[in-house]
Formats: sequence, structure tokens, C-alpha cells
Amino acid sequence: MGNNKVNAKKAVMIGCGFVGSASVFALMQSGLFTEIVLIDADRNKAEGEAMDISHGIPFASPMRIYAGDYDDVADAAIVIISAGAGQKPGETRLDLVNKNVAIFKSIIPEIAKRNFSGILLVVANPVDVLTQVAIKLSGLPEQRVIGSGTVLDSARLKYKLGEHLSVDSRSVHAFIVGEHGDSEVVAWSSANVSGVELSEMCEMRGHYQHKENTREIADAVKNSAYEIINRKHATYYGIAMSVRRICEVIMRDEKSILPVSHMIHGAYGIEDVVLSMPAIVGADGVETDIPIKLSGEEALKLKESADALKEILASLEL
Ligand SMILES: NC(=O)c1ccc[n+]([C@@H]2O[C@H](COP(=O)([O-])OP(=O)(O)OC[C@H]3O[C@@H](n4cnc5c(N)ncnc54)[C@H](O)[C@@H]3O)[C@@H](O)[C@H]2O)c1
Repeated sequence: MGNNKVNAKKAVMIGCGFVGSASVFALMQSGLFTEIVLIDADRNKAEGEAMDISHGIPFASPMRIYAGDYDDVADAAIVIISAGAGQKPGETRLDLVNKNVAIFKSIIPEIAKRNFSGILLVVANPVDVLTQVAIKLSGLPEQRVIGSGTVLDSARLKYKLGEHLSVDSRSVHAFIVGEHGDSEVVAWSSANVSGVELSEMCEMRGHYQHKENTREIADAVKNSAYEIINRKHATYYGIAMSVRRICEVIMRDEKSILPVSHMIHGAYGIEDVVLSMPAIVGADGVETDIPIKLSGEEALKLKESADALKEILASLEL
């Protein structure tokens, strides 16, 4: 398997709800692809979104966006899966596990059957568990199956820190690692602003309550999906930009460092579980982990995050 000729300009989105359609809208504007295929269990939804998003093409660049089927996966460079139930107010990402594993059991074999040779990007939640399920059910090389992981959480963290410090969030270097969910861990010990240690930068900008401020910011980031869902029932623009960035890194073989979820083998004593750690990402997917500095407490929390995910995985019948 995995020997199809790849069309480097073709992406497939499976699931065209809020997240899938917002992501395709972001990808349409990126100029990365000349063909984007939309697949959804509700064919009308896929067709309607394809029509609507296509009407923006005259303001972007020439491409084809259309509703398709699983045969379109065969030569795609990237397949993105956003199909699945979203969180309802009060639900955690892990509450979605049974519903969305069942959906993955119907989707992943369809991809595997088409000898797919590209990168599989999982966005549906719980993203770490579903990425591990996708690796297992697809039989694809594990470096080619990645989850959006904490790319969004890390962006939320950078945004918050940028606001707090009144500095461009792109100059903030900070990662959230572990589960994309309640057990996620802020890697404060390696956070910096263009090389300046975070606490030093905070003091330069007049903030001295490090403990309180870091706790408030970490909580705000961790709870932002709940806060948004309480207000507008779904989150999709932040993840859409994250999907666009991940696709950009892969399609341009950028070898950028992104906290995508991927299979971990040994880092910080964690073995055989998919979660987010910064890694070099390029055309072949995940190349290698980047061992950022973690304090003893952060490493312990990361291990706990891995254990929480392993417990869920052990309860699944695959
Ligand atoms: N990773 C992240 O950071 C992140 C952020 C936001 C949302 N999400 C997740 O993305 C997923 C989608 O969220 P949403 O708000 O777009 O939900 P939504 O309900 O708007 O859309 C889900 C879509 O999936 C389709 N679908 C369901 N089963 C399918 C199947 N077997 N094959 C094809 N399509 C199928 C539905 O018809 C629907 O159009 C959820 O699991 C949500 O939690 C992830």
C-alpha cells in the first residue's frame, strides 16, 4: 500500500461542519492547493459548502473546490478529518470518544483501501486518541498520521501572552504539550520572547505577579473552548488557521517546529501514546521530536497527561 502517485496540490476534507468548512475557507485563501475535495456523510452539506466557498475563488487564486467521494482520496497529498460530533456545553473532549471512534471506524478503512500515500491530518476530538486510532486502523507509517494537537492551544497561549506583554504574539515562543484537552501542560520553563526569558520580559513590561498571572493565563487557554462553546456552540476560526498553518508546513516542506500530536517513543519516559510535543514537521510528516526544556513538575504533569490518554485507549475496542 501507499504507492499511488500523489497530486501535490490536492487536499481532501472529510467532515464539512463548522470546523471543516472554516478550514477549507482558510485553505482556499492560502493558495497552497489547486484542488480541494469536500466529503461529508451529508452530501448536500458538502455540495453547499463547496459552492459557497468556491464563490470566493475570484478574490483568491484559480482552483477547484467540489464535493466528492472516497475515490478522491487516492491521489491526495493531504487528507484532513474533521468529521465527528463536537462538544456540547459542559462536555469534555474525552466525552466524545465513543461517538467519534465509531465514526473513525467507518472513515479510516475507506482511506486505507485507496492506497493513500499522503499525510493524514486528524482534527476531530478527542484529537490525540483519534490520531492513535487512525494510525492503528489505517496501517499508514505513523509519521504520516498526525493530529492538530496543541497547535491551537499554543496559538491561544501566544495570543494571551502577546496581549499581556503588549508585544506581537509571533515573537512569543511558548508551547502547550500533552493532551489537547483538560490535562494539557504549559511548558513555562522554556517560554521566551525572542530569547528573553518570560519572567524577565514580564518584569520589563511591569508585571511582577508571575505565579498568579501564569495560572490565570494557563486557565484561560485551557478553558477557552468551553467559554467559546458556551457562547456560540462551536469553535472553528482558530482551528481553521491552525489547519492552514499545519498544511503550509507540510506542503512547503518547511521543517518548522509545531506541537502536533504524534506517536511518542521514549521522550520524557513516555512510550507508545499519541500526544503533542514540539516536533520538526515537513513533507513526510513528523521528522523528529524537539526535546524542549521542562521542569520536574512539568515533566510529571506531562506523564500524567500521557497516562490519562493511555487509560482511554485501553478502554477502546478497536
Ligand atoms: N482539534 C481541535 O483543536 C478542534 C477544534 C474545534 C473542534 N474540533 C472538533 O472537530 C470536530 C468537528 O466539529 P464541528 O464543530 O465541525 O462539528 P459539526 O457537527 O459542525 O460537523 C461535523 C460534520 O461531520 C459530518 N460527519 C459525521 N459523521 C461523518 C462520517 N462518518 N463521514 C463523513 N462526515 C461525517 C457531519 O455530517 C457534520 O457535517 C469535533 O470533534 C470537534 O470537537 C477540534
